[in-house]
This record gives sequence, structure tokens and C-alpha cells, in this order.
Amino acid sequence: MSVIKRMKPVFAELDGGLFSAAQKADVGDVARKMEEQGVAMMSWADPFKPDPSTPPEVIEEALKVIQSGTSSHYFMPIGSDELRKLIAQRIERKCGLKLDPGRNLIINPGSDNGLLFAMFPWIEPGDEVLIHDPSYPNNTLNVKILGGIPVAVSTYAEDGWHLRIEEYEKRVTTKTKMVVLTNPNNPTGTSFTREELQALADLCIRHDLICIVDQAFEDTVYPEYEMVNMAQIPGMWERTVTVCSVSKGMGLSGFRVGWTYCDDVIMDKYFASAVSIQGAASTMAQLAVMPAFRDDSFIEEYRRKYAVRRQYAYDLFNSVPGVSMDMPEAGFYAWINISRLGSSQEIVQYLIEEAKINCNAGNFFGAQGEGWLRLIYACFWEDQDAFAAMDRMAEALRRLAEKKEITG
Ligand SMILES: Cc1ncc(COP(=O)(O)O)c(C=O)c1O
Repeated sequence: MSVIKRMKPVFAELDGGLFSAAQKADVGDVARKMEEQGVAMMSWADPFKPDPSTPPEVIEEALKVIQSGTSSHYFMPIGSDELRKLIAQRIERKCGLKLDPGRNLIINPGSDNGLLFAMFPWIEPGDEVLIHDPSYPNNTLNVKILGGIPVAVSTYAEDGWHLRIEEYEKRVTTKTKMVVLTNPNNPTGTSFTREELQALADLCIRHDLICIVDQAFEDTVYPEYEMVNMAQIPGMWERTVTVCSVSKGMGLSGFRVGWTYCDDVIMDKYFASAVSIQGAASTMAQLAVMPAFRDDSFIEEYRRKYAVRRQYAYDLFNSVPGVSMDMPEAGFYAWINISRLGSSQEIVQYLIEEAKINCNAGNFFGAQGEGWLRLIYACFWEDQDAFAAMDRMAEALRRLAEKKEITG
């Protein structure tokens, strides 16, 4: 193990689950064992996993491009011209933002890669980055990997996990360089309002901060709420980098296609460094997802399924003594308060053993998430399968509440 000492401290301290019993949802021996034992992995933010759900047009296109032989060659590292055009058209249809696909857009191999790449040119050792807590943990790790210092900005259950600008303001120092915003938020399912984004934009402009927006869940906002693009708030275009992908809204995570958009002054630097940092996205995948951009109406069926499951989860978990959840504003996951029953880790472990369900411990998403669980209700294609898994989980929680003599 001595070579580990030669690593950067941030890597030396990481734990991939090979040498510990770390409870990780997606890597290492523990996750593999759970899958082998038939535990339902409702911890992957991946719609309908493990069931097949690819739109037929995407399957047909994938087969066609493989058979044509063209997909064994590279596109430019910045991605296919045609795909960038289709993405720009869809963005304009969705929110009215007009992008030049040749100057404002780059294709990434998924948004996880896109987010690290987006941060790369900015973060120097010691730079502080404000990240709302709880939120997507990879964004915090990315900052550390790049030598920056993530600064958690607390959000609170009583605010529906919306932002308190004073929490940002009091953490700004001369070293603050960036704000990372996951909108809509994973794990809380919060879709940030125009007013709070305006307040955050004012703060970014006042302190000359860069804003990286993780918009992986932009297609999952429920109809009662609005999806507001930070890049469209006046004064933000020139300091905002937005990262999205086909993984969540389109349910095409396995294709590994994402995109980033921003001002061309910034994009020029991403174009210049694309080969070094991301290589290129798969040619086959970029070609195969094009039909999903030409006609994205299949998403409507997904949204209907999420809405039904959201209501089911809400009614079910709020009926369990000691357990509660708010109605999600976006996403396809329930964010469940189990703090009266135990710690997040204890309850995750208990549910693996008692209900054969693996969900995520809330503290994985930040300290503010302690006492909460995230459950992906979009798992399984059939609604009945998702309901059955949720029933099993609620029943186990009910038994635990009874044992602990928790009522109401
Ligand atoms: C908030 C958020 N952003 C980004 C990603 C990365 O997704 P992908 O790399 O598949 O685009 C995820 C995946 O879970 C996520 O939850």
C-alpha cells in the first residue's frame, strides 16, 4: 500500500470499495454482492433500470450506424456537428435560448465527465467553490480533485431545500471563485425558482464568480413548477457554464452522451483542451441518440410514469409512523425523512436486510442530508414493480417504527 503515500492526498483518501466494507451504491464488491443476492438497486438514478426502455427509433438508428461501418471512426472531440445542431434547436424550443451550435456547444461523454471538464479551466489550488448541501456529491469531489476547496452552503428541510442567499453571502471570501448549482437538485427534487436564481445571480455578479450549472435533470420538472435556466438570467450568460445529458430525462444513460453550453469566449478554451480532458464521446452513441432529439415526445410517457409513482411514494411513506416526505418538484426520486427511526446509514443497512431494497443514505449528498434517504422510484419499467418494491420498503419501516414504539 506504500505507493498510495505518493498519491495526491485527495486520491489517497478515496475508497473504491475494494479494501473495505464501504457501502457504495455503484462500485466495488459490496454493490456486486447486493446485486447477486437479488437486492433491488433503487439507488441508481437511472430511469427504468434494470428493465429495457430504449425508444425503438434509437435502437433502429444504433443498428443502422453500426451496420454502415461509419461509427468505427472518430467525430471531432467537440462532437458531431449534426448533433450539436439538433441540441441547439431543442434548447431553443424548450426555453427560447438561441445558441450557435458551432460556437456555444460541445458534446461530452456524459455529464459526469462534462461537469469535471467544465470546472477544469477555473479551479486553482486553494480556490473556494460554493456548493449547496445536500446536492450531487460528485460535484464536491470534482472540486477536491482539481485542488479546490468545496464550501458547503446549507439548505434546509423547512424551506423545501430552496436556497437561502444569506447562507451563500456569509461564506464568500476573497478566495471564492465559483458557485456550483445542481438544478433541479438531486437528491431533494427541488426546482429553483426565478427569484432565488436571480438572487444567486446578483451574488455571482457582485463577487465576480463563475457559475457551473448541473442541469442533468432539466427534463424532469413536474408541471406545477418552472425550470429556470441560470444562463438566461440577465448578466449571467458570460459567467455561466451549463452541463446536461441524455441520461435522466431521456433515460439513455448507457449511451454516455452529454453536452455543455456557454459563451464562445469560454467555449474556445473547452474546444482547445477537449482531447486532453475528455477525448471524445462515442461516434455510435452520438449518431444513435439523434432521433431522440428530432422527436422527444417519448419523454411524455416517462413523465406520466414518474408523476404516478411520485404520488404513490408520497401517500405511502407519509402513512408510515415516524417517516415523512415532501412532494418532489422535479426528478424521479423520493427524499424521505427517516430521522426518527435512525441514522441514514443504519436505515439503509436495515432496508437491505429486511426489504431487499438498496437506497441511498442522505448524508452521502452532504451533512444536511443526515436523517434522510433517497429512493429512486423510476426503477423498473412496470409501475406495479416499483409499487411492490416501495410497499416492501414501507412495510419494513413500519415494523421498525412499531419496534421503536413510534406512532404518528
Ligand atoms: C445531478 C446529476 N448530475 C450529473 C449526473 C451524471 O449523469 P451522466 O454522466 O449520466 O450524464 C448525475 C448522475 O446521477 C446526477 O445525478
